[in-house]
Parts: sequence; C-alpha cells; structure tokens
Amino acid sequence: MEFSVKSGTPEKQRSGCLVAGVFESRKLSDEAAQIDEVSNGALASILRRGDLDGKLGQTLLLHNLPNLPSERVLLVGCGKEKEFNDARYREVTTRAVSALKDTGASEVTSYLTELDIKGRDIAWKVRQAVEVTEAALYRFEQMKSKPGNSRRALKRVILAVPKRSDLGTGERAIREAQAISAGVKLARDLGNLPGNVCTPTYLADQAVELGKRFNLTVTVLDEEQMRSLGMGALLSVSRGSRQPPKFIILDYRGGKDGDAPIALVGKGLTFDAGGISIKPAANMDEMKYDMCGGASVLGTMQAVAELKLPLNVIGLVPSSENLPDGNANKPGDIVKSMSGQTIEVLNTDAEGRLILCDALTYAERYKPVAVVDIATLTGACVVALGHHASGLMSNNDQLARELLAAGKYTYDRAWQLPLWDEYQKQLDSNFADMANVGGRDGGAITAASFLARYTKNFKWAHLDIAGTAWKTGREKGATGRPVPLLTQYLINQTEHVDDEPAA
Ligand code: BES
Ligand code: MN
Ligand code: ZN
Repeated sequence: MEFSVKSGTPEKQRSGCLVAGVFESRKLSDEAAQIDEVSNGALASILRRGDLDGKLGQTLLLHNLPNLPSERVLLVGCGKEKEFNDARYREVTTRAVSALKDTGASEVTSYLTELDIKGRDIAWKVRQAVEVTEAALYRFEQMKSKPGNSRRALKRVILAVPKRSDLGTGERAIREAQAISAGVKLARDLGNLPGNVCTPTYLADQAVELGKRFNLTVTVLDEEQMRSLGMGALLSVSRGSRQPPKFIILDYRGGKDGDAPIALVGKGLTFDAGGISIKPAANMDEMKYDMCGGASVLGTMQAVAELKLPLNVIGLVPSSENLPDGNANKPGDIVKSMSGQTIEVLNTDAEGRLILCDALTYAERYKPVAVVDIATLTGACVVALGHHASGLMSNNDQLARELLAAGKYTYDRAWQLPLWDEYQKQLDSNFADMANVGGRDGGAITAASFLARYTKNFKWAHLDIAGTAWKTGREKGATGRPVPLLTQYLINQTEHVDDEPAA
C-alpha cells in the first residue's frame, strides 16, 4: 500500500473516498461537519433518517454528495466523544479499512488522523493508521493452491494532517510505520507457515536471504559447531528430531564501531510436540507458532536495517524442533549447558528454556549493553495475562521501564511480573544444578527464573509472548507481535544515545 500525508480541508479534496468520523449520537467530527456544510447539510439530513448514529465501528458509505469534489464519503462511528482513546482509534481505523476494501475506490483520504486523542500527537496517529491498515489488509495465502478472491481496488491512502508544518513529521511517521509493518508481515508469514515447511533450516535460509536484501551479516551455526561450543542443553532438544538444529546470528552494524550492541534472542522452536512429555492432541497444530519469538527477531532486524538506525544490534535465533523419538530427551535426563551448569530435564516440554539458555550464554561474547529474549515460553503466561499483554520479566528496572514504554506507545503492550529470588528454589534439583521446571505455581515466572541463571553478566529482559504471538479460533494466525514493541524500543535508544556520557 502506498501512503502519504496531506494538509487541507476535506471539502476541497478530489478523492476516491473521504473518510470522516461521527460520534454518538450523530455528532459530526470537525471534518465531517466541513463536508456537511459544503454539501448543504446533506450529511446531517442522512443521519437524521437513522442510518448511522455514531456507535463505535458503524460505517456508512455515501456517493455523490452535492458540491463535493470527492466521489464518496465513508462515515465511521467513533462512539462517545469523551470515551475516544487509543484503542478506539485503532478500532475505527480497522473498520474503515474493511469497509473500504469492498468499495471500488483506489485512492482514499482519511480524516480520522485529525480526531483528538488525549496525549497523542499527529506522529502517533499517522504511525498507528499505517500499521493498523497494513495489519487489516494482511492475508496469508502462500499455501493455497489458488490465490484468494480478495479483490482489492485500494492502492493509495492519504492521511490528513492538520497543518502544512506537520507534513515532515507525518512523512517520518509513515516511514517508521512502513518499516515496522514490513517487519510484522515477515514475522506473521514465518509464523503462519506450517512446521513441515518452516523448519530450522528454512528459518536459517530466510535469515540468510534477509541478510542479502538488507545490510546484515548473517551466520548460521550447524550442529557440529554448536557441539564444539558446548551447547548441550540446546542439542538435547534437537536430538529428538530428524531436522538438524540451526543457530542463526544476524549482525547489524548501524552504530559506531566500538559501540556495544543490543542483543535480541528469539525462541525458534519450529514445532513443539512436547517431546517424550508429549502434549495432548487438541490444538497441537498451534505449536507451529513456537518459533514466533525467533520470527520477531527477524522482523525487528529487518525494520532496524530498513530504518538504518544508528545502533549495533545482534539477533540470535536458536532453532530446533521438539519431538518424541528414541533419541529424544527423557524425563530425568541430565544435560550440561554451555555455561557449565547442569540441568535435570524433568519435563521435556519445557524445551524453550533449554535452547534459550545456551543462546543467552552465547550472547555474552558480544558484551552487550542489554539482552532481550522473546519466547512463546509458557502456557502459564497466557493464564496470567491472557492475550492482550506479553509478560515482561527483567533483572534491570530501567530496561523493563523502557520496554514497557515502547509497548505502550506502539499498542503492543507488555506487563511486568516479578522475578524475585524466592522463586528460584522451585527449580532445585536433587541431582543437577537445577531442574528445568518449577511446578505449576507461577509458571511464567519460574521459567524466567531459570533463564535468569544464565543472564547474570548483563542487563536482561525476557518477553513471554505465548499469549500475544498468535490468535486462536476463527481468526487463527500469527500477529507479528512484539515487532512493534522491539523496534520502538530500538528507535528510542537512538534518541538518547548522544546524551549518554561515554563509558
Ligand atoms: N511452547 C510451549 C509454551 C506454550 C504452551 C505456548 C501453550 C503457548 C501455548 C512451551 O514449550 C511449553 O510447552 N511450556 C510448558 C512448560 C511446562 C512443561 C513447565 C507449558 O507451558 O505447559
Ligand atoms: Mn514445550
Ligand atoms: Zn515450546
């Protein structure tokens, strides 16, 4: 989709369709009122007939209004004006896009960006408009034998900004939003691909392709190289699979040579059957999404490279399958991680932490300023937070605050859970340095507590995206989260990089 910004009032635009908001009950937004005025009260009289009273998400498409140069007007219900907020802005934008998809308009001009939202400026509204539009138009049809019949005339979206002086800000917002949207799309596509296509080798190949298209150095370690590094925890998981594991390294150098990088570590488990501690059959297909953390690292690296952020960023994606097999991990097996710490595998389904702990140890060699891991790690996190917030746990409060803020800004929100020492004893093992499970209670936290034993040497945060990386049910599919949060976090790092004293 092509996006641009424009300033100027709606009654003068010559557009395929103008989009304007109406609040409850039948209260025209300023821009709808301008359209009404030039068309001699046509909008008001249509609304009086009762076709739209402004309830959230209602839409009404009108043609050929008198004196209006534009062909169509799409009115969108915005609910009560006083209650209008971030979420509702996203909702009305989504509704407008789905209504527009079914029209013949190839180019539209939206005035929804001029609606007032408390605490949000034009940059935010443009960013969200682009991201929400791209997300609403997303389809995954790669695996259908015939292309879908989603006829789409819509080619160009013009977003209105209040003043000419807002155009520069608006253009920058579009650029950021498009890079994030492309990263989200990459993460969604990889997530939606089935386990028989999206194997560790496939993920690694995609990373190599990404490296060719953007300015990224991509290295893939094979099983032998992982063995020499002593990644015994990771390899214990892949032992039960016929697909060879891959350790994917993406290196982006947009910052100064000596600048320590930020490292992103994503769980790339391309299918999680649970191993010998096998999962129940119902919905097991959804465990193809167990690589969404890794996919979000690829998506974020792409966005960072596209935006040419002045930062150094490392992406690490340990990738494996987790299947039952004669050679698979067995409950009670003890494995040795790259850190030297030994682990009693009491449940082979707690494999994410086994592949991540070695990746986190590997991250140390970069002397990173911060490490963020992203993983569909626990069902317990979904029980705790549902599907709206990712779980955030960190050994550093400032890092946690920065990630929470980035999530809030992008509406890709996270919620912090405690990571207190008291939880550690749930991981005690009679036979090894630790067990890989800590019982049912506080399952998201004990999983993070396990990882905390491998991240003592740097600032670290863990995002459990088990509830947010994909949707189930009728709308089943990957969401691309938390690419917006991560990219925003990195954008924000570039903004105060200069005023930090040299180390
Ligand atoms: N990939 C799963 C986590 C998961 C489960 C995400 C369901 C989304 C929905 C992970 O590898 C796993 O199986 N975790 C176990 C841990 C348990 C054995 C301590 C879980 O959550 O049940
Ligand atoms: Mn598992
Ligand atoms: Zn898993």
